[in-house]
Amino acid sequence: MKNILTIALSLLLSLGVQARDIDIKCLAGDICHVRVSSDNKTKYVLLPVEESAKEAEVEVIVNNNRVRTLWIRLALSHIDYYVPFALEDFQGSEVLLQIHVPSVPITLSNRGWVGSDLCVNNIRLSDSLDFSSETSERPAYHHTPEYGWMNDPNGMFYKDGEWHLYYQWGPYGLVWNNMTWGHSVSKDLVHWEHRHAAIEADALGAVFSGSCVVDHNNSCGFGKDAVIAMYTMDGAVQSQNLAYSLDGGNTFTKYEKNPVLTAGIPDFRDPNMFWNEETGRWNLVLACGQQMQFYSSPDLKEWKEEGKFGKLYGAHGGVWECPDLFCLPTPDGKGKKWVLLCNINPGGIMGGSATQYFIGDFDGHQFIPDDPDRYTGGRALWMDYGKDHYATVSFSDAPDGRRTVIAWMSNWEYADKVPAIDYRSSNSIARDVFLYKGADGLLYMGSRPAPEYDKAGLDKTFAVNGSAQWVLSNSEKEAVVITYDAKAMTLSVDRTESGDVSFKHTFPAVTTAPLHKKLTSLRIFVDLNSVEVFGNNGEVVLTNLVFPSAPLSNIKTMKYEK
Ligand code: FRU
Repeated sequence: MKNILTIALSLLLSLGVQARDIDIKCLAGDICHVRVSSDNKTKYVLLPVEESAKEAEVEVIVNNNRVRTLWIRLALSHIDYYVPFALEDFQGSEVLLQIHVPSVPITLSNRGWVGSDLCVNNIRLSDSLDFSSETSERPAYHHTPEYGWMNDPNGMFYKDGEWHLYYQWGPYGLVWNNMTWGHSVSKDLVHWEHRHAAIEADALGAVFSGSCVVDHNNSCGFGKDAVIAMYTMDGAVQSQNLAYSLDGGNTFTKYEKNPVLTAGIPDFRDPNMFWNEETGRWNLVLACGQQMQFYSSPDLKEWKEEGKFGKLYGAHGGVWECPDLFCLPTPDGKGKKWVLLCNINPGGIMGGSATQYFIGDFDGHQFIPDDPDRYTGGRALWMDYGKDHYATVSFSDAPDGRRTVIAWMSNWEYADKVPAIDYRSSNSIARDVFLYKGADGLLYMGSRPAPEYDKAGLDKTFAVNGSAQWVLSNSEKEAVVITYDAKAMTLSVDRTESGDVSFKHTFPAVTTAPLHKKLTSLRIFVDLNSVEVFGNNGEVVLTNLVFPSAPLSNIKTMKYEK
């Protein structure tokens, strides 16, 4: 975000509009008050950030009430970029930012943090987020936040021709913190429009991951077709909370009787709810430590505890997070099976974060896996064999009976270290999941690019007949090598020479997927910072980030022999 907003800043400075509306007072070496008057009509307070500084505590006090606390790496010795604090929601009220920088010791000869003057002298009002002078590039068809940090996709649903994508958003810097639900909308899954933050932190804590449903029958009492969100409030404890939207998901009101679910355990989060046609009730699946806990409800408010799943099954190298549970038709089209998605971090198949899944039956109370041996003794089924596919969840109410998912394209191993200007992280392309039979006669889940991308023609498709290699390269001698080894029955992606791989030793990796069937086709989606490889149109998938110094726009196909 270097140089961000500087044009807007100098313009405003020359106009001198802010002196009237903003008052900055230092009360002590480590405490400062930034007061914006109730007459102010400017949209943002810009705060200077230094990436390597310790986080300052910024209490937001509106009309003498503390509405939330932010943690921001305010500049101490130099300014890397500015972050905007939005004033729009508080128009007509006085806003006081009480800044506390606890990490700077104050001595007689040292006027503390405030003594550096750097931050204080550069806090300003501004009306625009002017990114036009920026050098940062954006992926052509992957969703990114407008600015700041992003992790998990949240609360996705489809309604009236629009795909709504919320996401874990940290608006005040390029590293994780201050989680709020950002919001973007798309009509074609290719172009995304940014909307106002949907559910924001409050005095009780930050807003962690969760899901949305459209309440078609008003079972919750907030209104017919209200969009209901359930999210984890991360405060004194982790609890589950409701918010509802009566304008199609743009603005939400928090339910006054929150929280709706609490428990005395530290990892209790990421509620995923859905309407269960078979039982005529709502179900909820929640990540609790290293298990998934199910609940049922007639109205989304009162929840009854049902079964738990996971103790003896699957990978357990880390915490289980971001569950999802849904039905898919069997490959013969005659039956159906339930699939439980279970994101895990660390302990993923390629190191760090990944999505495992279980196939079985769910009766509204318990999930029973088919062929339990597939999941015992640490065995697991993995949805994607790249390093950058995490927090996968699906859209509610996707059209035409589709089950469409999006994953966060990063890995907690290095998510806060990947090269970034303006924003950090992007999401995978949307994928429609399906069940198929492997050569061993067992069921697997695949994920094929959503059909919207067929129309957009974004990928390169190859027919495959025996072992082969595809080399994606640029003029800088950087390359990603994709290898199909028909003897070993593997598909792999080598990004060790893909450009900047220096920021973390686990980044330059070769990721390898086992194949459950012979490879007959390959689709490759290359965008600014990612390579997504789909074998047999999604029966096997590898998603990997790349940071080349020029686009990997050449593709060469070669024979491969060991
Ligand atoms: C997964 C996760 C979730 C949590 C969120 C916080 O990446 O750790 O479990 O709700 O991120 O941002």
